[in-house]
Amino acid sequence: MHIPRASWLLAACMGTIINASDILEVDLVFPRNKTYAPADRFPVVFAFQNAERARYLNPAISYTLWNLQDLDDTMTNSHDLRGTNWTDQDTYLAHSYHTLFKNEGRYKVSWTVTWQSCDEDAFKNKLSTAKMIDNMTTWATYFTTQSSAPKVDLVAATAEKTCPEKYGVLMNVTDKTMKVPWNVRWSGGDYTNDTCAVVAKSTPTATPEPCRVHIDKTTVESMEASLWLECDANNVKVEGSTPSGTSVFLFLSFF
Ligand SMILES: *[C@@H]1O[C@H](CO)[C@@H](O)[C@H](O)[C@H]1NC(C)=O
Ligand SMILES: *[C@@H]1O[C@H](CO)[C@@H](O)[C@H](O)[C@H]1NC(C)=O
Ligand SMILES: *[C@@H]1O[C@H](CO)[C@@H](O)[C@H](O)[C@H]1NC(C)=O
Ligand SMILES: *[C@@H]1O[C@H](CO)[C@@H](O)[C@H](O)[C@H]1NC(C)=O
Ligand SMILES: *[C@@H]1O[C@H](CO)[C@@H](O)[C@H](O)[C@H]1NC(C)=O
Repeated sequence: MHIPRASWLLAACMGTIINASDILEVDLVFPRNKTYAPADRFPVVFAFQNAERARYLNPAISYTLWNLQDLDDTMTNSHDLRGTNWTDQDTYLAHSYHTLFKNEGRYKVSWTVTWQSCDEDAFKNKLSTAKMIDNMTTWATYFTTQSSAPKVDLVAATAEKTCPEKYGVLMNVTDKTMKVPWNVRWSGGDYTNDTCAVVAKSTPTATPEPCRVHIDKTTVESMEASLWLECDANNVKVEGSTPSGTSVFLFLSFF
């Protein structure tokens, strides 16, 4: 397993307005099931749509990149989002750049979103066996790098209005929050004042729409150029981390 040589991580949110709703959506917005030119710094970008709903869920993303021609050439990365300020954010982007895709090849990105929510009945009834409800979803996307293919362009790649791939994680996060009982251990509690959200059991009827996320040039430039930047114009907020991956907002970890 390779340690990434020069990968760094930062996260951004854009001004895209998602209709206020209970539905939190997590998507891989780049790469898609396409062919791209190899790149020294190849982005992997996840989006939280209606991101404010993530506030009490302690969400995390981990993913593995596989070089399908050389299965030893694999790396795993994760976004620990506990320090994220989810307030007032429509779309939150978590991204990293990777050096794995310098050569032509066929690759797989397998990604997992985890989150925790209140167990309403157990918490209300003060059950001694009460625990957080743990949930996770995993998806995978395949893509190819080829010298003759178009250069990686996040603006163009996310300009499409619709996309055939409807993979994404939908959560119906209700307005209801609860205090996590003292006897329930939860690593997210330190970041939410021990508050959890009730997630509806039924699967939302909506379908994921990763193509609703459009990344503009300004956001790309701030992703590429700056490791520490906050700009409030257009509700754009970029939180960065150092190349070693340590920061107060995000932690980069390898395992
Ligand atoms: C990926 O794209 C190819 C070619 O456009 C298509 O044949 C294939 O079904 C797609 N795979 C998925 C999982 O969407
Ligand atoms: C989070 O962001 C909101 C809106 O920008 C701001 O009002 C609030 O003070 C922030 N909270 C923290 C803890 O930084
Ligand atoms: C886990 O999340 C999925 C997708 O939101 C949902 O369909 C499922 O009911 C959830 N499972 C539990 C145990 O809450
Ligand atoms: C945390 O929650 C407690 C009670 O649930 C409340 O009294 C306190 O003000 C909250 N603290 C913050 C910082 O919101
Ligand atoms: C979300 O859950 C609530 C409560 O169970 C339900 O009334 C609502 O229809 C659900 N929304 C979607 C889009 O499934």
